[in-house]
Amino acid sequence: MKLDATFSVTYAHQLRCTHGVFRSENHLLAEILAHDTGAPARVLTFVDSGLVEADPGYLAAISTWFEAHADAATLVDTPHLLPGGETAKRDRKTLDRVLEIISEAHICRHSYVLVVGGGALLDCVGLAASLAHRGVRLIRVATTTLSQSDSALGVKNGINAFDQKNYLGVYDVPFAVIHDEATLGSLSDGDWYAGFSEAVKVALLKDPELFETIERDADAICQRDSAAAIPVLRASAKHHFDHITKNGDPFERGDARPLDFGHWAAHKLEQMSHYEIRHGAAVAIGLALDVTYARLQGWLDEAPHERILHTLERLGFILHHPLLLERDTLMGGLADFQEHLGGVRSIPMIRDIGVAFEVHEIDETVMAQALEWLNAWKPEMADSSRGIT
Ligand SMILES: NC(=O)c1ccc[n+]([C@@H]2O[C@H](COP(=O)([O-])OP(=O)(O)OC[C@H]3O[C@@H](n4cnc5c(N)ncnc54)[C@H](O)[C@@H]3O)[C@@H](O)[C@H]2O)c1
Ligand SMILES: [Zn+2]
Repeated sequence: MKLDATFSVTYAHQLRCTHGVFRSENHLLAEILAHDTGAPARVLTFVDSGLVEADPGYLAAISTWFEAHADAATLVDTPHLLPGGETAKRDRKTLDRVLEIISEAHICRHSYVLVVGGGALLDCVGLAASLAHRGVRLIRVATTTLSQSDSALGVKNGINAFDQKNYLGVYDVPFAVIHDEATLGSLSDGDWYAGFSEAVKVALLKDPELFETIERDADAICQRDSAAAIPVLRASAKHHFDHITKNGDPFERGDARPLDFGHWAAHKLEQMSHYEIRHGAAVAIGLALDVTYARLQGWLDEAPHERILHTLERLGFILHHPLLLERDTLMGGLADFQEHLGGVRSIPMIRDIGVAFEVHEIDETVMAQALEWLNAWKPEMADSSRGIT
């Protein structure tokens, strides 16, 4: 017997942006939680310790919110505090702990795991939620600029393993994504800047008008002006959301990763620095490197190249790093990227701001020149107190 069939499964993806999701008068979460059985939804919460250190009242606000919305939802246990940042993804400790807690709390496939925090914790708890019972409902509450501009909208969940970034993971669509924009005020400066490199990335690939907005408002964003920053984060989120829901390859089965512009070098730099360089800061350097390569190849003119580098710099990023001198190791990032794609080398590039294309070969001599060029670019910025890694 030989049977062949194709079938499709419909997914729903929902994003809501709000200010203070756990303020008692905010009913958004109650509206999102579906209680299929008629009983209040059971919710197990995990919270980023970095958020709580910066805003100690956040934990109590969660408990108070659930008390005020007892008809819609029950907090299964007191909120669990977990280490935020790359510590959550560095090994399997946090993943195992989350799985253990999910199991002990008897979370079923109609209950919810709700995680509040930065991209790293969202990735780790998301993986645990996908593994437990082969998948329980996950609600991500994103509290960093990077998770709000990019990662919370994605369908990737994972941790680092075998010395490779995000090696262990699954593609899975969260039940809902909530951006709590009120939390951004407590971010460190470095974590505040970090998310805007992903916004620049998506603007360079798809949206010249968004790039112009970022370029115009870069100083205000750097000075943490929410009125300038929030529209940029939302525009970036919308591009990432549309990419997942409309581009036809949400689970990246094809050869290309069109939104991974600048990421082959970024992931390698993160790994080489033992995750001392933040993802967002590494993406800024990766973008600067790839646009410099594009310029040296004659694909990108000098004027847009300069505008891109200056905009990234005005947003607070330092675009060179001593690790760029470790050329051979860094170039290994190209092979890692290729392996992720299934053996096909397909690197996003731009010909102009908003005009993307794919390349399948990288001339390593020219890339080495791009590295040197970038390291030499405005070296006096190395002392700037504005720059971050
Ligand atoms: N899944 C995806 O599609 C995807 C895409 C891009 C990036 N990522 C991953 O996201 C991670 C980076 O995420 P990130 O930039 O959000 O950083 P992060 O999660 O490392 O958080 C940065 C720091 O901010 C703290 N924090 C979180 N919210 C806070 C708040 N409101 N106030 C004060 N401190 C707070 C955290 O504890 C941490 O110390 C990387 O691991 C990266 O690989 C995933
Ligand atoms: Zn990224």
